[in-house]
Amino acid sequence: MFDLTGKVALVTGSAKGIGLETSATLARCGAKVVATDLDESGLFGALEKLTSEGTQLHGLKLDVTSPEQWSRAIEEVENAYGRLDILVNNAGFMHCGHFLETTLEEFRRSMTVNFESVVIGMQTAVPLMKRSATLSKAGGSIINVSSIFGQVAGDLGAAYCASKGAVRLLTKAAALDLARAGTNIRVNSVHPGAVNTDLAHGFQGELLEKGVIQGREAGTQMVLASTPLARWGEVDDISGVIAFLASDASKFMTGSEVTVDGGLTMT
Ligand SMILES: NC(=O)c1ccc[n+]([C@@H]2O[C@H](COP(=O)([O-])OP(=O)(O)OC[C@H]3O[C@@H](n4cnc5c(N)ncnc54)[C@H](O)[C@@H]3O)[C@@H](O)[C@H]2O)c1
Repeated sequence: MFDLTGKVALVTGSAKGIGLETSATLARCGAKVVATDLDESGLFGALEKLTSEGTQLHGLKLDVTSPEQWSRAIEEVENAYGRLDILVNNAGFMHCGHFLETTLEEFRRSMTVNFESVVIGMQTAVPLMKRSATLSKAGGSIINVSSIFGQVAGDLGAAYCASKGAVRLLTKAAALDLARAGTNIRVNSVHPGAVNTDLAHGFQGELLEKGVIQGREAGTQMVLASTPLARWGEVDDISGVIAFLASDASKFMTGSEVTVDGGLTMT
């Protein structure tokens, strides 16, 4: 797909879904991948399965809300590989609720997991990425996984939209700063639409519970009707775009937002 030979990547939220597929895709493109997650048993179970299929990854527990765990993770990457070229901030969750019923605590939790984690991750990883970027012409690449709900509003999504919108503009501000500082590190965001993972199905379950949709079938029909390509996105629809942004093929892109939604937000 894209050649990532010689590069080292760290991916967050890799136990399942988009993060797991992204970790596997980057490894298949030739990168050494450190796959991380809060859910240690889920992560190591998934990595064991990948190993049995011939894809080798380095697993590491990382709760992205913890600055201490980030510092230890970057230290472990440096000790194991001596460099870091690619950082994928993917870990996240989706709070579902009407704006007026969403508590300040729930807003804070969404901001902590979905947004602050990206701040801490970039601030902790950039010093090592900067040193690594001096060794290659193309430099380093950070990919922040936002959402179409960081670009447009979604039903019952005030806390989620606020956190993902923050990731969108943080990405551009960090991209500008790192470019102006001559670091040779690019920062871009990816904005998936409806992707067939536990997160999306959990959200649909909550819409069902709150009476926004009537029945699972209605939820699927809603996705198909609102997505011009008329299907759910699959995890490899997103991981391929992340691999592109991680690769030298995108070396003149920084501060860009790449929407991957089957056309959902174009109308
Ligand atoms: N699935 C979709 O439709 C969709 C759409 C747009 C954006 N996204 C975004 O894509 C990313 C991945 O979503 P997914 O659909 O694969 O979700 P998922 O629920 O399948 O996987 C999320 C992973 O993140 C991990 N995680 C959660 N909190 C964490 C923490 N504090 N520290 C470390 N790991 C943590 C979970 O353990 C899990 O393995 C998220 O940021 C999500 O907001 C998903």
